[in-house]
Amino acid sequence: MKPRRDAIVALTAYDFSFARALDAAGVDLVLVGDSLGMVIQGHETTLPVTMDEMIYHCRCTAAGLERAVLMVDMPFMSHISPDEALRNAGRLMKEGGAQMVKLEGGREQSEVVRRLSENGIPVCAHLGLRPQSVHKLGGYRVQGREQDAAERMCQDALALQGAGADLLLLECVPSDLASRITGEVDVPVIGIGAGAGTDGQILVLHDMLGLTPGRIPRFVRNFMLDASSIQEALALYADAVREARFPAPEHGF
Ligand code: KIV
Repeated sequence: MKPRRDAIVALTAYDFSFARALDAAGVDLVLVGDSLGMVIQGHETTLPVTMDEMIYHCRCTAAGLERAVLMVDMPFMSHISPDEALRNAGRLMKEGGAQMVKLEGGREQSEVVRRLSENGIPVCAHLGLRPQSVHKLGGYRVQGREQDAAERMCQDALALQGAGADLLLLECVPSDLASRITGEVDVPVIGIGAGAGTDGQILVLHDMLGLTPGRIPRFVRNFMLDASSIQEALALYADAVREARFPAPEHGF
């Protein structure tokens, strides 16, 4: 899709019924995100989510998909070494039915990515705001605003691609930087809060359906406001991404 400049439409899902709805709406990539710790389990962060919980939700979601690619998050502390990562990613594929795993981290994850890739496991590397590092980052903040941080992120992206990453995800990154990274790497890049210059977009399902209480992040649009059903909201989102109407400049940094 990247060479054709076809925008990749992605959303999170955590169960059979929503997975079926996303598939029917033509979503290309479904992520069983560890955001389930917050939107399903009610935790403050994604940190408490376990491997067994990810596998359970992945299996539920896989049952609803016929067309979309199924990607699943490796939860906090599940990829602290290449061996541990391989064992856990293998479980997500064999027991959960995942087709790709996603892990948070920069070039320090290169050996992990290489081991997974060499064993036939497609990998997405998650850069920018990494929610599993929220306590280290000091909050949910835009990443890569300073020149040296921006350069580091570009180098991370290239290192991870070199190690075998098949996809990159940029979260809460200035739009200019996200466009630059998208242009510098060959693999597709999907963004959330990263502007319109990436190869695709992803949102947390509960955010775009207006189910998340409290302050809505700037990069989210509630598609239920213009829809009379969940199916219509999903179709509006898919069309808006494909026709480059979402994200608009006001959703970026
Ligand atoms: O866990 C998740 O849902 C994610 C998205 C924010 C992309 O990683």
